[in-house]
Amino acid sequence: MTVKELPIWPFRQTILDTVAKHSITVIIGETGSGKTTQIAQMLQNAGYAKEGCVGVTQPRRVAALTVARRVAEEMSCDLGQEVGYRVRFEERTSRMTRIVYLTDGTLLREMLDDHELSAYSVIVLDEAHERSLNTDVLFGVLKKLVKTRQNPLKLILTSATLDSAKFSSYFDGCPVLNIPGRQYEVQIVHSQENHERDYLAAAVDTALDIHLHQAPGDVLVFLTGQAEIDKAVKQLGEAIAELPEDSCADLLILPLYAAMPLELQARVFAPPPEGCRRLIIATNIAETSITVDGVVYVVDPGVVKQKTYTPATGMESLHVVPISRVQATQRAGRAGRVCNGKCYRLYTTQFFEREMSESTVPEIQRTNMLTAVLYLKSLPLDIDVLAFDYLDSPGSEALEDALRQLLILDALDRDGHITNLGKRMAALPLEPSLARSLLAAADFDCLPEALTTAAMLSAETIFSGNRGPVQLLRNEADAHGRQGGLSEQGRATLGDLMKEGLGDHILMLRLFQGWERNGFSSKWCKEMGVDALRRSLLVGFANRLARRMPRHNGYKTLNERATLAQLHPATARIAADEDGLMPEFVIYYALIATAKVFLSKVCPMNTEWVEEVLPKLRNINVERLSGGMTTRKAAKRAEFAGQLSENPVAKEAPAATAR
Ligand code: CDP
Ligand code: MG
Repeated sequence: MTVKELPIWPFRQTILDTVAKHSITVIIGETGSGKTTQIAQMLQNAGYAKEGCVGVTQPRRVAALTVARRVAEEMSCDLGQEVGYRVRFEERTSRMTRIVYLTDGTLLREMLDDHELSAYSVIVLDEAHERSLNTDVLFGVLKKLVKTRQNPLKLILTSATLDSAKFSSYFDGCPVLNIPGRQYEVQIVHSQENHERDYLAAAVDTALDIHLHQAPGDVLVFLTGQAEIDKAVKQLGEAIAELPEDSCADLLILPLYAAMPLELQARVFAPPPEGCRRLIIATNIAETSITVDGVVYVVDPGVVKQKTYTPATGMESLHVVPISRVQATQRAGRAGRVCNGKCYRLYTTQFFEREMSESTVPEIQRTNMLTAVLYLKSLPLDIDVLAFDYLDSPGSEALEDALRQLLILDALDRDGHITNLGKRMAALPLEPSLARSLLAAADFDCLPEALTTAAMLSAETIFSGNRGPVQLLRNEADAHGRQGGLSEQGRATLGDLMKEGLGDHILMLRLFQGWERNGFSSKWCKEMGVDALRRSLLVGFANRLARRMPRHNGYKTLNERATLAQLHPATARIAADEDGLMPEFVIYYALIATAKVFLSKVCPMNTEWVEEVLPKLRNINVERLSGGMTTRKAAKRAEFAGQLSENPVAKEAPAATAR
């Protein structure tokens, strides 16, 4: 398909006219209609990128990278020249760059240095329907900026499916352009029974069945995560290898997920060899943000992996949950882009109608607001966080939770003003606790060690197969039944490192140090490094402290709603005292709920240190922190002034001058 055949092309002039007339425009069009790749180019050709750049945000890092590459190709320039990208820890832009694809988080961080986003003449908030946390925060902040910036800023929101009335009314009645899609018909086939539990096996069987019995056309299978996708790729590969030769056409199996190296991802955009069917097994990433051409069959298990945060307990849960009906429709639509297609839903019609919600709950309503509130407070916009103009409010519980944590981390003062430390934390592209630990580590003179630990904590897991060090030492099998695989020597070394008994963080550090022997002298570390590092962690994770229950080894978190939790079975050894009791205080990286509630990634703390930070956790006045107090004060003052003007003396005085 050439660029001019894309559905968006005939609307070029309408789009430009509308953008010229209005400061905010919403553009809605089917996935694949050309919004992400074409709108920025149209704007540039119309002269919008002369004074400043056109910035296009993406909720996902991968999308920013692949789309920038694609647009550079279309414009026949090298990536990083006229077209570039900026994502966390990586950028390819230059002074020549006119179109930048960047993640929504990166744009928010850029605002901390350049409040008015003066480098941009147009901002396109792409994939608005995904309602990612950062995009939602940008809605509110940019809505404000568009009104106040002297140099006009154009704001465009683009989306696949969207409640356009709600958006338009939130953005002061802005125009909404609808780009009709060129959807072919998609036949929907529901299964007779629900495959909630065995959806992986059902998806593999269905994909195989399509390959053996259906006409040519690529197949797109949705699964929930990398481990699952790898498993499905393996099973399908084995099943195909067992078939007699020449019993079916060639099949190319391609996994697609965000954590995959870019070069491997690029394979799904390359045309397949002649007569070969492609089977793409993808996460939710293929639902809207990446379009794979050639798909005729979709296999939809009806589930997605979703992170949910409960502010009251500070607990994060990662569960496979049913998708919404909007998502199911979107997934099915992926089969109808090249010709009539077919979507196999691995669930019944009743499940679709009764178990699935109409639309997805936006991330802002089910996530930890810590980072977002830190950003809002860092902007010089005098924002009352609790009363801010959100499209959908995160709710006061989540906001109060974030404010309290920011106070404990010294990012806010008691009146809710951002502190210098808070500003420095916001500037670091890390979650606030890690940022705070690093800043404290600089004071405790153990920054290199803290950086190592931060890097290792940021990786989902450092051991293979989701095993912890204890399981590795015992040579226990991983989640997929694979054995430990550590050599005698490896186990001996790990065993030695574990003897120190200071939990996960320190073990991680030790492992790294062992690996990079020529790094910092381990003697020095033994002498002073360990405890300094643990204290830095305490400063950064003072919002995630837990105290052991008297006389037994269960813990209770020290936040608003104290939650009972156990140390995660994958926790590295933590030394017990003579009575077999664990340390009184620990900090944890996450509180996770699976079958039970667990503290994960745990570091023991000395009681004396914790006693120093405990006062910070008491008597927190959230209203004052929000900034609401000042607003309310202002209201009181206005009320008082009003009373004054009703006072006959005050009223008569100006009247006298008029006479
Ligand atoms: O944003 P929207 O979903 O409306 O469409 P797009 O991402 O701009 O895609 C327009 C066309 O470019 C589609 O046919 C995509 O398959 C194609 N494309 C591509 O081939 N490679 C990319 N990296 C991105 C898009
Ligand atoms: Mg797009």
